[in-house]
Amino acid sequence: LDPAANALDPVLVQRLVTELSGLCRTQLIGPCASVSLVGRNIRAILHRLGEAFELFADQRIYLVSQAANDLNFTFVVDEDQGDRLVEELHERLIQGVRGDEVLGPSWQQLFAPPPAAAPVPVWWRTRRDELLALAAGHECAYVYDRDTVRAAAGQLRALQSVDQVLYALKANPHAELLRLLAAEGLGFECVSRGEVEHVLSSVPQLPRERILFTPNFAAREEYAWALEQRIPLTIDNLFVLSQWGELLRGREVFVRIDTGTGRGHHHHVRTAGAHAKFGIPIEEAESIAELAACHAIRIVGLHAHAGSGVMDVDNWADIATRLLALAQRFPDLRVIDVGGGLGVPDGHGQHGLELGELDTVLSASRQSAGGRRARIALWLEPGRFLVAAAGVLLARVTQIKVKDDVHYVGIATGMNSLIRPALYGAWHEIVNLTRLDEPATHTTNVVGPICESADFLGHDRLLPATHPGDVLLIANAGAYGHAMSSRYNLREPAPELLL
Ligand code: LLP
Repeated sequence: LDPAANALDPVLVQRLVTELSGLCRTQLIGPCASVSLVGRNIRAILHRLGEAFELFADQRIYLVSQAANDLNFTFVVDEDQGDRLVEELHERLIQGVRGDEVLGPSWQQLFAPPPAAAPVPVWWRTRRDELLALAAGHECAYVYDRDTVRAAAGQLRALQSVDQVLYALKANPHAELLRLLAAEGLGFECVSRGEVEHVLSSVPQLPRERILFTPNFAAREEYAWALEQRIPLTIDNLFVLSQWGELLRGREVFVRIDTGTGRGHHHHVRTAGAHAKFGIPIEEAESIAELAACHAIRIVGLHAHAGSGVMDVDNWADIATRLLALAQRFPDLRVIDVGGGLGVPDGHGQHGLELGELDTVLSASRQSAGGRRARIALWLEPGRFLVAAAGVLLARVTQIKVKDDVHYVGIATGMNSLIRPALYGAWHEIVNLTRLDEPATHTTNVVGPICESADFLGHDRLLPATHPGDVLLIANAGAYGHAMSSRYNLREPAPELLL
């Protein structure tokens, strides 16, 4: 119902709901926004809208409609997402179109609200000179800012509803950062024996209770090793309980539950639902309890992780509610771990997670569970949130090229250092650090030296006139950057430096 076209007073709406309820189950959802992509023969260009559709990855979409006259595609989403989506769609679909003189200024240029207060400058702007000095000695490098990591840890520690934060070190296992986070009181979530051993050697004094080992489809020996080392362990398959139950006899373990709803910035990182390989479906909780009883295994923790790059705080509250609802069946339960996945804004208009709101909804979930359940400890296990903004990738411009009117800037490293743009279409802010104060006037593709057409860091980016020898900075690269790098083409990935 479009309030501009319908009289929507509450009495009328209630009458409508009552009348419809005689025919069907009725639910009122709102306020909503409808976002339309408009264009002649839109069906014929769907394949070219892929990147734009990625923007809907983490949206709750209530309705999709396609006009019979083939002129538009419409999505109904939560109202507060509408403006952001429109701005981002304009940036992806219109700003990148060549021949901007026809289309005129972008949506942002026309409608960008004046900044409310002077925004806090991002660390790499204030430390530009140090970064340029570091870049003088390297063709490319990841640089991490300790203070930004510390500040992110502080924000999570301030959450009243969370008893323990574990750092998911797959995001960035740099030993210095592990020591820093351990000193901040964080524990560690590990997914392989290698990660556990790396934590133990990087932070030798760390009590083992501050580790949680969450393997998935690992070999029996890896479980046996963890049990022998007394590393807290998560089981995420009934097979492990039924086939290797004797190995676990008399032990305390966590169990990973699949709550059924995967979320995240890309389908590769959504880890719940039948098509994700992780966890035991929540409907099989009874089988977990029975198999555990059969082998005298005590379930002391329930764990779930829905996905990565999630911006909706309800994700963690929903998980908490659903795990706490199982407490009755697991009398030894001491902990629920509601996973990681806390999203980080990518720097082009996305809003960050409202941590205050997260705290409120998590507390509410705990309180409404009541009784013994309210006293069960709640853990969070983010990776990206702690390190993403703290890392940048610096790379020197090697060459430039123009083909037709498509411009390319080549830099000293590419998908061998940062694979996220190629793998997920991830958007990382890119600036010319050497010419930070010059106006961004040229639309260009930023590419690396790897022999794949997927080897790009950014498409259609606005940069100042850029020259070989300039240093480009790729922001928000502290998480899943170096950690996912490779020696593809036998090119060493960018080394890591700390400020
Ligand atoms: N816990 C579990 C069980 C996980 O599988 C993950 C991430 C995390 C915690 C931490 O998620 P985070 O807070 O960092 O979102 N390579 C992808 C992300 C893959 C995440 C895999 N699991 C990317 O670059 O976006």
